[in-house]
Amino acid sequence: MSIILEDFGKTPDGEQVSLFTLTNKAGLSAKITNYGGIVISLEVPDKDGRFDDVVLGFDNLEQYFTNVPYFGCIVGRFANRIAGGKFTLDGVEYTLAVNNGPNHLHGGIKGFNKALWDAQPIENDPSAALKLKYLGGDGEEGYPGNLACTIIYRLTDENELKIDYFAQADKPTIINLTDHSYFNLAGHGKGSIFDHRLSINADHFTPSDETLIPTGEIVPVKDTPLDFTTETAIGERIEQIGGYDNNYVLNNSDPKPALAAEVCEINTGRVMQVYTTLPGMQFYTGNFLDSSIKGKEGAIYDKHTGFCLETQHFPDSPNRDNFPSVVLRPGGEYKHTTSYKFTVEK
Ligand code: GLA
Repeated sequence: MSIILEDFGKTPDGEQVSLFTLTNKAGLSAKITNYGGIVISLEVPDKDGRFDDVVLGFDNLEQYFTNVPYFGCIVGRFANRIAGGKFTLDGVEYTLAVNNGPNHLHGGIKGFNKALWDAQPIENDPSAALKLKYLGGDGEEGYPGNLACTIIYRLTDENELKIDYFAQADKPTIINLTDHSYFNLAGHGKGSIFDHRLSINADHFTPSDETLIPTGEIVPVKDTPLDFTTETAIGERIEQIGGYDNNYVLNNSDPKPALAAEVCEINTGRVMQVYTTLPGMQFYTGNFLDSSIKGKEGAIYDKHTGFCLETQHFPDSPNRDNFPSVVLRPGGEYKHTTSYKFTVEK
């Protein structure tokens, strides 16, 4: 178990950026930068013990300054969409950037994915552990209240990449943090994800309009191409809907982390399980990727060559009373956990 620190360049404002390599007992490794909390690479073994990097990303820091697909980053203050970039909290209307068609997406123009986080390896932790801190300012990107966020990445000896999220606010605000890693369990740049077999522990989803804003309904997945209650290849019904970009209402009713999804790539035998305390998960199949995106080691990331399982609160929750609340008040604590656990199937 170890953490190695290297320089990763400078932000556009000239601040020094670091790159941390976390390695566990079995040799799994994760490279994480404090620019946007981005997971740059994640090396995990296949059924024959061969390691591949299973997340999409870029080689250089500069490429992350735009990062249109949001590769690997921490998304905040509010992941996913808010209708019209407006919400009302305690009778006050707030206006956010409209940066995705008519809506607000992923925290705005300079979201947490473009912030420089303070980073500190955690000494004497049983895992390779990295603590990131960021103070979102009152009024930053239009959101009310200072928001003190701490994120801990751990690469455990149980072969999990575990992410703990904590936040506190000094005024009532809204919060929804996620990790936006794109996975391809065959290895990044190894083509389409259609052969991955996926199950999602969700009987319901939140249907949305053409701009991906939920209609407010909570509808069974049964008899729709969104039904992954039993293991199904991602590619099997994808043509029926042109690509997945949907929020699932997870079945977990327990505050403890519960299994949200399991994915298996048959050729390599790699299996990834996602556990979370959060109520929702966006399953997104890289519908907006295209061959112009030049990834790590010269890889071309065409449409559907990576998938995201973004554990989250439901999109547009600030405008939906029937969705679980995303309001954080002074004295309260936002506290969630998501982990990606890697195993193999022979
Ligand atoms: C999320 C959204 C997608 C897309 C990606 C970023 O997953 O749900 O619609 O915006 O982020 O490309």
